[in-house]
Amino acid sequence: MTLEELQKHVVGLNEKVTLLDGSRTKYINFDNAASTPTLMPVMDKVNEFCKWYSNVHRGTGFKSQLSSWVFEEARNIIGRFVGADASSAVIFCKNTTEAINKLAWRFQCPMIKAVGKEAEKPVILTSVMEHHSNELPWRKVGKVVHVAINADGTVNSSDFYKKIDQHKGKICLVAISGASNVTGYINPIHEYARKAHEAGAQIAIDAAQLAPHRPINIRPKKHPEHIDYLAFSAHKIYAPYGIGVLVADRSVFEHGDPDYVGGGTVDIVDLENAYWKDLPEREEAGTPDIVGVVALAKVIMLIEQVGFDSIIEHEAKLTAYALEKLNAIPEIVIYGDKDPKTARNRLGVISLNVRDMDHALVSAILSYEGGIGVRNGCFCAHPYVKCLLGVTPEQAKEVEKHILARDRSTIPGTFRISFGLYNTKQEIDEFCKVLRKIIKKEYIGKYLLDKERGEYYPEGFQVDFSKFFTF
Ligand SMILES: Cc1ncc(COP(=O)(O)O)c(C=O)c1O
Repeated sequence: MTLEELQKHVVGLNEKVTLLDGSRTKYINFDNAASTPTLMPVMDKVNEFCKWYSNVHRGTGFKSQLSSWVFEEARNIIGRFVGADASSAVIFCKNTTEAINKLAWRFQCPMIKAVGKEAEKPVILTSVMEHHSNELPWRKVGKVVHVAINADGTVNSSDFYKKIDQHKGKICLVAISGASNVTGYINPIHEYARKAHEAGAQIAIDAAQLAPHRPINIRPKKHPEHIDYLAFSAHKIYAPYGIGVLVADRSVFEHGDPDYVGGGTVDIVDLENAYWKDLPEREEAGTPDIVGVVALAKVIMLIEQVGFDSIIEHEAKLTAYALEKLNAIPEIVIYGDKDPKTARNRLGVISLNVRDMDHALVSAILSYEGGIGVRNGCFCAHPYVKCLLGVTPEQAKEVEKHILARDRSTIPGTFRISFGLYNTKQEIDEFCKVLRKIIKKEYIGKYLLDKERGEYYPEGFQVDFSKFFTF
């Protein structure tokens, strides 16, 4: 399978959506950083498996035994995809958020002393760049210290080294993203891993954005650049069937009580005691998402056949092309790297604004008048986006007041385009064409602001979604 062949098998690529003027157009999905569509061979594999589907674990029937075998084969495929060996457990979760929360819940800081006394709390070193899913869970574990970002939005590596030294002996974990969902910057995770280990800490990588676009190898446990924990979501990698993965140093999960307990986690239970199963079962309470696991394994096999080189090449070309086109529009402000020549070093995620126009309004017009799906706001990375936009603490406080009063219309932000392996230059041309119309105020709708939601709607326009999908 080549990339060109795979591109023809993206599900839903030719679906037409209704525009404000009543016409229908082929949808352009520039929201891949949120979720990717699935692929025909993945759907086919899921359908094929559904004939054999049964609950896993201990069922004596043929289908249950087959499903259990498929489930564990898939686990091996997924583990190999990120270079996991026997020292790591591949634990299935719902998504990256759940995977990180699970780790945060179970993570034991070796240097934890007296919780409550700020000075003696363990330190989790993270960065200002993080998605909230790799920020909020850590606040429960210890004192979260943030590595600053540079003016261009990259993580400030000098500050990383400085903070590692400054908190040496107290840092138990470095928790950092593999790549940003806002600017597409890729972090030097192995360099950070080496530094973390030298300081006696472990490292957890939020690979939600990295996994669909770059090969990952967590390296053996003894390697100084080993990644101790890795989390990612299948729905961002063409398998939107409901699973996420935590690849984790087994030792953390081998002891203590699981976060969720119940069926599937225990070997034996009496009315007082429970004896937990071995990994990974003890961490996968209840019936797992077997179909989701099959879909992810299949997508991984397809990506391995196609090869990351061609995916990187394709997405870098798209990114460079988009940046060239956008740089030529004076009313556009791009946040992060604008240089088409460095497109290979980052992901195809571009955050931008039209000068003096609300990001929510631009996104709405792109959708209603261009059939182009983007995302706007702060992308669950409020601290990072505020830094990129230069929002002062006073301005942030003011916005906070509005939000608490249920007015989301003043939320600062940008809109974001993000590419997948199937997007095209023609789509970028179409996007720029609609963008130019918006800038010239040549759009046709009268847009009304729903303050509570912070979203714009064209007056008098209602789509009947049941014409597109019914149960
Ligand atoms: C960098 C990053 N981390 C974590 C997440 C959370 O992923 P999920 O919603 O699949 O849990 C996202 C989602 O956009 C992300 O971009």
